[in-house]
Amino acid sequence: MQKVVIIGPASLKGEIDISGSKNASLPIMISTVLAKGSCLIGNVPNLRDTRFLVSILKDLGCKVDFKKNIFAVHNSNITKKSADYEYVRQMRASIVLLGPVIARYKKFKIALPGGCSIGTRGIDLHLKALKLMGVKISIRNGYVEAERKLSKLIAINHKFSKISVGATQNIVMAASLAKGKSTLKNCAIEPEVIDLINFLNNCGAKIKFSKRTIIVDGVEYLELNNHEIIPDRIEAGSYLLATMASKGKVIFNNFKPDDLTLPLEKYKLMGLKVKKLSNSSYQFSCNKLNTIKKISTKEYPGYPTDLQAQLVATLLKVGQKSKVTENIFENRFIHIPELRRFGANLKIKDKTVEINKVNDLYGAEVMATDIRASFSLIIAAIISKGTTVINRIYHLDRGYEDFDLKLKKCGVNIKRKK
Ligand code: UD1
Repeated sequence: MQKVVIIGPASLKGEIDISGSKNASLPIMISTVLAKGSCLIGNVPNLRDTRFLVSILKDLGCKVDFKKNIFAVHNSNITKKSADYEYVRQMRASIVLLGPVIARYKKFKIALPGGCSIGTRGIDLHLKALKLMGVKISIRNGYVEAERKLSKLIAINHKFSKISVGATQNIVMAASLAKGKSTLKNCAIEPEVIDLINFLNNCGAKIKFSKRTIIVDGVEYLELNNHEIIPDRIEAGSYLLATMASKGKVIFNNFKPDDLTLPLEKYKLMGLKVKKLSNSSYQFSCNKLNTIKKISTKEYPGYPTDLQAQLVATLLKVGQKSKVTENIFENRFIHIPELRRFGANLKIKDKTVEINKVNDLYGAEVMATDIRASFSLIIAAIISKGTTVINRIYHLDRGYEDFDLKLKKCGVNIKRKK
């Protein structure tokens, strides 16, 4: 299994091109199963997850290609009506296939995704809404077996009992081919959901949104259209925190500040300095890093759970009893024991981690556990003295395109080893 070796400390200095958003790419690539025709989707990051999704779609019979950050669909149809355990197990996001496939084809069978290291992550919200839309669902031998009863899905007036990014995407896609007008309340409004809506609308869907309500007027068919994926706000936020933690100075290209409004406000309070160079290029620097007393993760536009672990790592040498509360996932502190290996002083109580300042951190051998937790280990390694070995970096390769090359370009002593 591949690992990376980082020799610290380092201060990030240079330029980073932010990649396209992974979490926008996956549902948009999936949503192409809804529509006829051909298209090119640009700015798709070349990651383990996007490559993996291409193999899932190919396995289902879709005619798709992925080269040089462009995902291409050529007049494609699903011929195999089952997404196997081996695939779904490795990428939870594949559950989002269910809504669009069942909207266009009568039957589909998909393995239950199960839990993952950050929590149980049910799919009850997805299934409940699909049942209301006229899909017969049975769980058999670890698979969700879905069958549409009528010639089209039925439009619904539905309030999600909890805000879920995946369930919102799944049901918006399904509703786009349903008979009638669906009103979906308490929806996720993450920029990745909005990018999906924009793509679907460009393909002929009729979707409007206001606050947390999304109204989908079902159409007869969708026709694929080209699209550019938005920049990855989580990748950008991760490198921002690495820049701050290491008191660096970095120019970010392909950066979209509007998708990171609240994190940027918090980071400025912590000492981040921002200089706009053009509409998509910004220079970020931080000479003095301040602590932040209290912060909680929340659905967008709140502070993202996907930037929680990296924030904890950034605070390790400044946090005077700073508290970070995780509200989205019940088990998203798996990075804490790993961060302690660097000498961090962290206490967990229920959903909150308390970070106490330490003057020095020392490189250690650690293990990557999930995509975002893994980046917190990168930040810790950069601000530690000596050598850090991060094992199981396939987690980083799932979510951070060329992370080792980008960090190297900014002066970090990092090497990938087999
Ligand atoms: C997406 C993102 C992930 C991010 C998360 C929250 C992708 C590919 N992944 O994941 O990076 O961390 O949003 O911003 O876009 N839940 C249920 N029942 C359900 C569905 C969800 O209880 O049917 C719960 C989950 O366990 C979790 C919460 O709802 O506690 C939010 O999860 P959700 O927004 O669905 O996350 P994902 O879409 O899986």
